[in-house]
Amino acid sequence: PVPVVLDCDPGHDDAIAIMLAAADPAIDLLAITTVAGNQTLERTTLNARRVCTVAGITGVPIAAGCARPLVQPLLVAGDVHGDSGLDGPRFPEPTVDVVPEHAVDLIHRVLAEHPEPVTLVPTGPLTNVALLLTRHPDSARHISEIVLMGGSVGRGNRTPAAEFNMYVDPEAAGVVLDSGLPVTMCGLDVTHQALATPDVLDRLGRLDTRLSRVCVELMTYFASAYRRLWGFAAPPLHDPVAVARVIDPGIVRCVEANVVVELHGQYTRGATVVDLHRHMDRPVNARVAVELDVERFWDRVVAAVAVLGRR
Ligand code: BDR
Ligand code: CA
Repeated sequence: PVPVVLDCDPGHDDAIAIMLAAADPAIDLLAITTVAGNQTLERTTLNARRVCTVAGITGVPIAAGCARPLVQPLLVAGDVHGDSGLDGPRFPEPTVDVVPEHAVDLIHRVLAEHPEPVTLVPTGPLTNVALLLTRHPDSARHISEIVLMGGSVGRGNRTPAAEFNMYVDPEAAGVVLDSGLPVTMCGLDVTHQALATPDVLDRLGRLDTRLSRVCVELMTYFASAYRRLWGFAAPPLHDPVAVARVIDPGIVRCVEANVVVELHGQYTRGATVVDLHRHMDRPVNARVAVELDVERFWDRVVAAVAVLGRR
């Protein structure tokens, strides 16, 4: 299995990403770290503990990281994920706790101690990862790849140009893209193919476990937010796409390109400028996801929820 650290801001789709990373046999989940994004750090961290508790994920250290972006104030997504960051289901009191260590220090330690290079999977703003690379440059040689959810070739979802994770901390995204490490960017172009349709909810519902019911409630809430805000018929389950790319690279087809994050545009701050056609004379610094094998993706997600539900 691929050793992975998942850095997230749960978040409905982050919650499913945690389950997929913890349950799929192709991943060895070494740590879960949290960052402020969809909600405040306090709430995303509580939510990570809630998800691990309800899904029976034990023995994976959880640590809280940065409470605000590198430069600008925090902007949360309460309109999409609710006041708690994980509105919808009622969660049991968490029995899984955080370790008393900053996420960046935990990741640094886990990377140094693990015998093989580790894949980082960030599914929130890139603040923790940027801070890790800045504060602990020696970490880079222990990272095999960064497979992130964020950005897009085309449209944005928080502004016309910018995707949420990039928009919340564009400076951090710039640090990651400039790091020289292999980066795979799973952006909206591909995550908008991962729609949690009624058919998907039906498959989950038929598992008929406490966890599958929680997942259906999560996606039902997420669906209502996407319908209300943007008229989506079904909500895109962004974050598990990055996890699926690690599990089975064939699930997500990528192209190589230069990607820069716009930092100064009056209307385009946080946009990822993806040079698919090599207009700019800049080196390739990312693999950019362009196509999802939708069937295989949902098969892995449903299988993960089934495995955890039996625990
Ligand atoms: C991203 O923003 C968040 O709301 C989701 O959790 C996902 O990581 C999608 O733009
Ligand atoms: Ca997220």
